[in-house]
Amino acid sequence: MIFTNLIQTNLRTKVFGKKIEYYQRIGSTNEEAWELVNAGEADHGTVVITDNQFSGKGRDNNTWHMSPSKSLAMSIIIKEEISSEQAFLVPLAAGLAVAKALKNRSFEPQLKWPNDILLNSKKCGGILCESRVHKNKVTQMVIGIGLNVNDQKSDFDKSIQNTATSLLIESGYPNQRELISAIITTYFEQIYDNLLAIPSQWINYCFHLNKRVKFKYMNNFEDGIFKGINEKGFAQIEIEDQIREFSSITLD
Ligand code: BTN
Repeated sequence: MIFTNLIQTNLRTKVFGKKIEYYQRIGSTNEEAWELVNAGEADHGTVVITDNQFSGKGRDNNTWHMSPSKSLAMSIIIKEEISSEQAFLVPLAAGLAVAKALKNRSFEPQLKWPNDILLNSKKCGGILCESRVHKNKVTQMVIGIGLNVNDQKSDFDKSIQNTATSLLIESGYPNQRELISAIITTYFEQIYDNLLAIPSQWINYCFHLNKRVKFKYMNNFEDGIFKGINEKGFAQIEIEDQIREFSSITLD
């Protein structure tokens, strides 16, 4: 059970999260968010949240596991025009908001570009942003946030038990999901309102700054030194003494 009044009590926002759609059990909060948008039932800043997401979607067509009643699965609906230059920064804004929320709760989070959230080098959360584009502008966006909060190691599939973690595993104590959700939403609104400030803040959480990273680009495996992100949020990677900028690669 998620108590939406507890989220609302802890929100410090002007718009985001003023409307919360809660579902006890649902396939995917992103899918549900789009249904609300399509039906004209979503306001800008509406949060969709569930206690049990059974068919969660991850990046790169992966699935996303949520431990019912233990982890956090939520989506925030954006219903305003965003220029194509700034649109790429929004997923980074979400990762940064989660990192700041965890820092606020005394964790030491790091971000793996573009927006995997890590604790102790293991993944505890991820972001899936989906957009609708009209005439080169993003008109609607759904920002899906998944965060492992009170999961035990045994809650994870064996295949990810060594690479995934949760707030409980890292700290030894449980966290209230409503509070975490409210803090994330509050930071997200602040960061969203000043997207251009993201690159300078994001870099403070970067997991692989000045480290060698491997990735696949146009069917080739490449590697280089991660040097930072540019003003649009693209990864800057030094390969053979040249800085190249990438917008859509997945780091190993
Ligand atoms: C990733 O692969 O790292 C992104 C995972 C994103 C998962 C979240 S959980 C809430 C929202 N609803 C979904 O179906 N996916 C996102």
